[in-house]
Amino acid sequence: MRKEENIWRYGKNNERILTGDRPTGKLHIGHYFGSLMNRVKLQNEYETYIEVADVQALTDNFNNPEKVKNNVKEIVMDQLAVGIDPNKSTIFLQSMIPEIAELTVFYSNLVTIARLQRNPTVKTEIAQKRELFGESVTYGFLGYPVSQAADITAFNATIIPVGEDQLPLIEQCREIVRKFNSIYGEILLEPQAYLGENKRIKGLDGNEKMGKSLGNAIYLSDTEETIKEKVMSAVTDPGRIKKDDPGNPDICMVAYYHNLFSKDEVKTICEECKGGKRGCVACKKQLIKNITEHLAPIREKRHYYEERPEVVKEILMEGTKKASKEAKVTMAKVKEAMKLDYFKEV
Ligand code: TRP
Repeated sequence: MRKEENIWRYGKNNERILTGDRPTGKLHIGHYFGSLMNRVKLQNEYETYIEVADVQALTDNFNNPEKVKNNVKEIVMDQLAVGIDPNKSTIFLQSMIPEIAELTVFYSNLVTIARLQRNPTVKTEIAQKRELFGESVTYGFLGYPVSQAADITAFNATIIPVGEDQLPLIEQCREIVRKFNSIYGEILLEPQAYLGENKRIKGLDGNEKMGKSLGNAIYLSDTEETIKEKVMSAVTDPGRIKKDDPGNPDICMVAYYHNLFSKDEVKTICEECKGGKRGCVACKKQLIKNITEHLAPIREKRHYYEERPEVVKEILMEGTKKASKEAKVTMAKVKEAMKLDYFKEV
């Protein structure tokens, strides 16, 4: 990576972080352990940009704009509730930054259709979205990696904390950057994925992924009652029928979540389970208590913002204003490099 005095002026090592979320649903504990905790930590070390990717959300929700709109504020409240600090992190709305859309058009010349079709993330997602797309995927969805490259480069971000599923998108962005720079001059910075401690959290049903569409998630905004219902229905060792049968915590989702929420007790819990000394109901009750306690401050903070929508709006507006300024600086450089600065000296 190249250093340029006027660009490398951000946080630690002068680098800037950018992450994004599609506003298609509230955030759950999978997001919390997988990325949010990491973000809260990293915002102290780097200047952080968090994009609410509403335009990207529309690529597979174009027929449901209401859903995207409603989830914008939910996502912002979730971020604030877990400790994203608007004084350290810039939270902004993708659709309010037209430069991102402009960059997407310019970059679309630098990537082939075949390359997009080969992108493993896009490929998997298209296969999952047969119902929406039928036999032929939309131009917008196929091209969303190009738009994601614009999200990143518009802000000169070089560190992109993501889950593993996003690696092909970052790679595609890097290719676009290299191609752009080789044709138009060294303008854009090549980003790197930051996997950090990102880990994927399994669902209540034992599925490898926790997800809204899978119906196996515990949301940050869930009430105690909901948490109770969900934990009671979590998958346990199917071989354990009576309370004093020895259980196998390795195949029990309750034990799996105890590992996350009951750090001090998990060893004893698992030993008692293996010895047939602890029943599943008692075990689940304890987990309900621990999850509820862990999420209580988050829910409280979320409640604060739920009661004050004008504060949430203000944070998003301020963040968007700041992001907009940054994107304009990048745009001017890009247009100059691409000889699109027609009226500059008239
Ligand atoms: N594609 C990402 C996801 O589905 C969201 C996203 C949009 C993003 N723009 C981004 C992630 C830029 C990192 C950088 O989770």
